[in-house]
Amino acid sequence: MTIQDRTRWEPRHEAQKAGEPRASVTRLAPAPAGALALDLACGQGRNTRALLAAGYRVVALDISLNALRHLRSLEAGGAARTLCVQADVDCWPLRPAAFDLVVLSDFLDRRLYSTLRAALRPGGQMLIDTFVDLGHPNAEGPSNPDHVLRPRELSRVFRDFEILEDSQQDGPTARALFRARKPANRR
Ligand SMILES: C[S@@+](CC[C@H](N)C(=O)[O-])C[C@H]1O[C@@H](n2cnc3c(N)ncnc32)[C@H](O)[C@@H]1O
Repeated sequence: MTIQDRTRWEPRHEAQKAGEPRASVTRLAPAPAGALALDLACGQGRNTRALLAAGYRVVALDISLNALRHLRSLEAGGAARTLCVQADVDCWPLRPAAFDLVVLSDFLDRRLYSTLRAALRPGGQMLIDTFVDLGHPNAEGPSNPDHVLRPRELSRVFRDFEILEDSQQDGPTARALFRARKPANRR
């Protein structure tokens, strides 16, 4: 999928877009000392910057080099706490139990669910804030159903996690926000 995704996304990231971070990310509690977050398909890093502000060290991964260039140029004090990775999510190996927080915002790849579950440390949090299919065309979200959540899909995928937040917001752009904690005794 690398070539097609990259071809599609590089032009979209040519121009720098400031972009406000998602409220779900800015609302996160301050990071525990030394905590490591993964911002998967981070784009130009609007959420990466909010994670840095919350005190996380961040692995920011995206397939688009243009996006990561903007992220690097916007970074100041956070640069030393950010590892930018240009890679295809489908190919980049995620180490099990490596992250205290995994963030997926405006991005969905169902094939990653089990890898992402495993990539969280026991007690770590999964945060997914993206588009959901509530039965009508989504004004801003992707048209491909592979990239849009089904209603309440995540509470099934993460049913063994402690669910901290699970909401859906209808409207022209229907969105879901899901936050859950991996059990402390689960590897
Ligand atoms: C809608 S943007 C969301 C960016 C960011 N998460 C945000 O909320 O601002 C989707 C991002 O997914 C990235 N992407 C698409 N396919 C990818 C893949 N196979 N591997 C890594 N990143 C990918 C794109 O380059 C783009 O930056």
